[in-house]
Order: sequence, then structure tokens, then C-alpha cells
Amino acid sequence: MTAKHIRGIDDLGKSGIEDILSLSDHFHEVNARRIPKVPALRGKTIALLFYEDSTRTRLSFETASKRLSADTLNFSIASSSVKKGESLRDTIETVSAMGVDAIVVRHGSSGVPWLLPRWTDVAIINAGDGAHEHPTQALLDCYTIRNQIGSLVGKKISIVGDVRHSRVARSNVKAFLALGASVTLVAPKTLMPVEVESWEVETTDQFDSIIGESDVLYMLRMQLERQQNSFVPSLREYANEYGLTESRAKEMKSESLIMHPGPMNRGVEISGNVPELSQSVITDQVANGVIIRMSALYHLLGSGSENNLESYVDE
Ligand code: NCD
Repeated sequence: MTAKHIRGIDDLGKSGIEDILSLSDHFHEVNARRIPKVPALRGKTIALLFYEDSTRTRLSFETASKRLSADTLNFSIASSSVKKGESLRDTIETVSAMGVDAIVVRHGSSGVPWLLPRWTDVAIINAGDGAHEHPTQALLDCYTIRNQIGSLVGKKISIVGDVRHSRVARSNVKAFLALGASVTLVAPKTLMPVEVESWEVETTDQFDSIIGESDVLYMLRMQLERQQNSFVPSLREYANEYGLTESRAKEMKSESLIMHPGPMNRGVEISGNVPELSQSVITDQVANGVIIRMSALYHLLGSGSENNLESYVDE
């Protein structure tokens, strides 16, 4: 079934995730063409509302829209005083009055994508809300893992670092579990989310104890901008205990993967030449970001099924 919105992983469920992953195999082929463009969303308009800074997410949504022949409306609101409540409502009503078909929104406050349907009927895609969810990141991570090591069923995925402030971790835990992986969160106690006991995950504060048994080490960025207090004694100490160094990477199984959503703090959560090791799929994640966002947009706005898509992609 097609979702109306992609605000969090729960909007999709397992079948929605599977649908987007299988659409991505088609869009992967489109992206490999000399002219990577199809008319699948011709006539549609997509508004990109970024209330927070972003490089790869914003660029990949924009690229994805263009490759589907949709028009985009671009807002950069990071520098304005727009925050929440009435003024957000005004912006949304204005944008919808212009006749857009979807709004892609990134916002520093958790829950904003769930507010928007009060003021507009258009499809909403969450490109990151506060420390809450970032569903398209989770989708592209599932796609990257599946392409590299096959089905996620039974795979051990360890998510390491600042889980507490991470929207990527929250969406990834849901998506990885939905696809049958088991998840271990690795963090000092101060960086574990308070609500973690209600999640179906293992937890540990001993990074070295899980390196050799993980199929994926998913390193998170230290989200210093979201930390009001000091959560670790010093970044150097944090890097010593929880950074993926070259010597730690040697303890991994040879076929295991190193992932990071970017932007990386080199020397903190990841160091040395680790991002460049053959096990690292960090640049594949970025490349798959465009493909997955094409699939997410098509899932919401396209004429529905994969069958229709085949008329565009199989020449
Ligand atoms: C993430 C984000 O902004 O939520 N980055 C991204 O979208 N690629 C992760 C982060 O900022 O650490």
C-alpha cells in the first residue's frame, strides 16, 4: 500500500520500506544512464523547506526531484526568524496555495512534519526533525546494506555514539528491526536515549566488546550543536573509548561494513584512513541517497505501482 506521507518509518511499515527498496533497483538503473532523467513526475512541484542546515540531504532531494522531471521550490529559512506555530503555519499555507504536490521539510523541532497536515493536504516528507526521525536516511542505509551484504534478516547492526541526540538512530533502529536485523546501541550511558528500555535493542557501553561480532558498525556524528550540557568529559576521551580508529577497524570481520550518515567529525567518532577502507560504504550511502529519494518521491506522487514505472525505465 502506498503511504500518504513519509514522516517517520511507521508511516511506511515493513511493506512500504520494501516497496521503496524495490523501486530503488529501477532508479539505480536510471541513475546509471548517460542522461539520468525520466518523466515520471512531470508536472509535479516539490517544495523543499529547510529550516536547518543541510548539504547532502537537501542536494539529494533536489537532484532526485529533477531526475524525475518534477519542478522544485526552494526555501532557505535557516537565517530567518521563522520557528514554530503561527509563522510556520503561514509559510505552509502560502506554499500550498502555490499548488505544490509535496513538501520536504527539515526542522530543528521534533514533530513538525506531523503538524503540517493540519494546514495542508499535500504529501509530507520528513528530511529530519530535531532529534526525532530521519526516515529517508534510514531507507538509504537499508538499501546500502542490502546491496553490499544481502538481506538484513539476522544481521547484527551496531549503532555507535551519540544515540541520544540522533534522529538517524531513531529511524534506523525502526527500519533495521522491521527488516529483521538485530540492533545493538553502543554509547556511554549519558548518550543513551532515556526511552531506550522500550526499544527492542541490546545496549552496551563497551565498544570493543561488539566490534568482532558486528556485521555493520554504524558510526554516528557527535551532535555537539544539540548538546546543552556536557555529555562526555572531553572529546579526546570520547574518541579513545568510542572512536572507530584504524586499530579498532582491524578487529572487524573482513566482510563487515563501516557506515556514517555524514557529515563526519574526523578525529572524533571516526579517524585516520577508516572512511577510506574497503569496508567503508560511506560514499555509497551518499550516492544511494539520490536513488532512495527518487523512490520515496515516486512512492508518494507517482502513478502508484512499479508496473507503471516500468514504462519509463525499461527501454
Ligand atoms: C544527519 C542529519 O542531519 O540528521 N545527516 C544527514 O542527513 N546526512 C546526521 C547528522 O547530522 O549527524
